[in-house]
Amino acid sequence: MSNQPSTQYEVRGAVAVVTLTNPPVNGLGHALRVGIVEGLDRALADPKVSALVITGTDRAFSGGADVREFGTPKSGWEPNLGNVIKAIEGSSKPVVAAIAGVALGGGLELALGAHFRVAKADAQLGLPEVKLGLLPGAGGTQRLPRLVGLETALNMIVSGAPVPAAKFAGTPLLDAIIDGDLVDGAVKFAEKVVADKAPLKRVRDLKVKQPNAEAFLQFARNTVGAVSKNFPAPLKCVEAVAASVGGSFDQGLKTERDLFLGLMQTPESRALRHIFQAERAASKISDVPEDTPVREIKSVGIIGAGTMGGGIAMSFINAGIPVVLLEAKQEALDKGLATIRKNYESSLKKGKITQAKLDERLALITPTLSYDGFKNVDLAIEAVFESIEVKETVFKTLDEVMKPGAILASNTSALNLDQIAAFTKRPQDVIGLHFFSPANVMRLLEVVRGAKTGKDVLATSMQLAKKIKKIAVVSGVCDGFIGNRIVARYGAAANEALNAGASPQQIDKALEKFGLAMGIYRMGDLAGLDIGYAGRKRRKEANPDAYIPIVADRLAEAGRFGQKTGAGFYKYEAGKRDPIPDPAVDQMITDFRKERGITPRKVSDEEIVERAIFAMVNEGARILEEGIAQRASDIDIVYLNGYGFPAHRGGPMLYADQVGLPNVIRALKRFAAEPGSDAKFWTPAPLLVKLAEEGKSFN
Ligand code: 3HC
Ligand code: NAI
Repeated sequence: MSNQPSTQYEVRGAVAVVTLTNPPVNGLGHALRVGIVEGLDRALADPKVSALVITGTDRAFSGGADVREFGTPKSGWEPNLGNVIKAIEGSSKPVVAAIAGVALGGGLELALGAHFRVAKADAQLGLPEVKLGLLPGAGGTQRLPRLVGLETALNMIVSGAPVPAAKFAGTPLLDAIIDGDLVDGAVKFAEKVVADKAPLKRVRDLKVKQPNAEAFLQFARNTVGAVSKNFPAPLKCVEAVAASVGGSFDQGLKTERDLFLGLMQTPESRALRHIFQAERAASKISDVPEDTPVREIKSVGIIGAGTMGGGIAMSFINAGIPVVLLEAKQEALDKGLATIRKNYESSLKKGKITQAKLDERLALITPTLSYDGFKNVDLAIEAVFESIEVKETVFKTLDEVMKPGAILASNTSALNLDQIAAFTKRPQDVIGLHFFSPANVMRLLEVVRGAKTGKDVLATSMQLAKKIKKIAVVSGVCDGFIGNRIVARYGAAANEALNAGASPQQIDKALEKFGLAMGIYRMGDLAGLDIGYAGRKRRKEANPDAYIPIVADRLAEAGRFGQKTGAGFYKYEAGKRDPIPDPAVDQMITDFRKERGITPRKVSDEEIVERAIFAMVNEGARILEEGIAQRASDIDIVYLNGYGFPAHRGGPMLYADQVGLPNVIRALKRFAAEPGSDAKFWTPAPLLVKLAEEGKSFN
């Protein structure tokens, strides 16, 4: 953090200018709040000053309350944001807010406390608190409706979406759009206000104008309630805005404050605030400084145009980066290209892209059967069959043809990246870029760091991920990396519940009620049960004694591969995706239990969720201990973005924190002690025990 003061004060003629300078985005932390009040008091005390301009930087007037300050103890004299705004609004000298960049959350609320607002046309104004599970808590729900009406204010507050300043030209929200230098324009505006002896416009004194306000609010409650499942904040936003109608301004402020403080305590808000910070933390690598030089990636070669290669190619061309797409056979190449075209045509039909855009994107692909086109690409991503022999041939060829300084990446899901790197004479240039299917849609990218991967290669990959709109998480090398390694435990835990007596339907329903996008068996049927079965078969052949059969083996052996064969854990009507419980599966499960000497018992939904989620948490702790993941929040990001973990839970590790680590340990011990259970599987990871003993949490 910089040691620069958070505000600067200067006087231009008879106008004082307070500039907010708290990088990166003028978060309204303690020092900045104090600086604003001091600037105001200085201007009020100076007889030569007749007006005040408050402004920020080109990037941000202010990004709002300092999210790093949430939940920290308050220090010393504490002007809270509400009081800072009250002081500005109460100023006897005119105050003009001059806005460039973003004015978000508390930043916009600060501007609403000023008597006048001027802005650059492209400044972004918004109240995004709802995205953090909150509502505007410094007067936004009371002042914005007074300026723009109930409907516009509610839309902005409930959606959290920013609006360009130009849209408010000519409304009471914005007094002038400034072309040219913002501060010069704002000072001139202030001088005119003084010269005209214009009355100070205090928003608190206005009334909300909305015919049939109550009917409109009732409509808003109904619509917002219907779409805000699992999240309390949107309805509370409506409640707070409703308080701006009729009653006194101060009463409205009090209602807003109470609702804000209530939301701050909810697990949903904690989860969303955690996600905001976790997403930004994920791009940081402790031993790779932020100023590490990166390599320029102007073109990409992709090997394999199958399920993954095609989606990866789309991710790059969507970002305008040209791709050379290589296949082993013309037929496979044609098929891959046809799938890509079909995907874009479906977007075209839905109106998501234009024909011109479609043509432009497809023109960025150079299909090929030869590595000649790889001589000049800056990055190659291999997405061929998951076979170490095939990967060996590909990487040896890449090593021969690619220019020095190019990056060689593998999309392998489970093979050892260090082994792959050793096929080349440049292991420092080799990295894992593990995309998730469908790669053009899924946001997650696991960046797999090999033992010899260069720091600049890592930094380049993290930057590139942002460019192609992915959220990248660094993983060390291990079987399954972060995501698939943990998901294997989740699957095993669900299997235990199935063996013990739960049905696939009950397990799926319990997990979906918890918030997962899809229960594990519905997910298995969608992905195809043959994939997991092939892996288990390989492991069984390699090590028959260690192999423990599961029900899914029986289904796959019976040709029930899931949706694609019309039957898996459920059955499916032709052409439909709705899962139908199947008595044949119940019989297979009953037979399986009998063979293994298991007497089924009643398993509660709560136990199902505890087993599945705590098994993930326990493996997450091991992954942290081993240094495979850098931080617990990275594991959360993987699960939220790659596996449909519900945002309102904040990820498995934050969920464990919220439940309390000692409670997680108690449940694990209970499962370990159950007769016939795999005690090793359920033994709490040492890191989990250590944190619990120290009274700490993962995040
Ligand atoms: N406080 C402190 N730091 C903030 C911040 C904030 N409000 N908003 C963003 N930052 C930090 C980020 O953590 C990041 O830090 P890093 O460089 O160390 O990783 C840096 O600013 C840049 O952020 P982004 O990577 O997100 O950069 P972008 O340029 O893509 O976006 C932004 C900038 C539009 C400001 C975006 O960060 C954003 O939307 N921020 C959140 C805004 C928000 O939710 N404000 C409301 C806060 S709650 C509030 O105001 C309560 C009040 O009503 C009482
Ligand atoms: P796929 O079978 O759909 O596609 C592989 C493609 O590679 C085929 O089109 C094949 O013709 C081509 N190919 C094979 N050998 C080649 C060679 N020597 N040269 C050029 N092309 C060759 O497989 P999929 O699913 O796309 O998987 C590819 C890789 O991505 C695997 O390593 C897999 O583990 C990994 N992966 C798969 C995910 C998935 O959900 N399918 C998710 C993440 C990673």
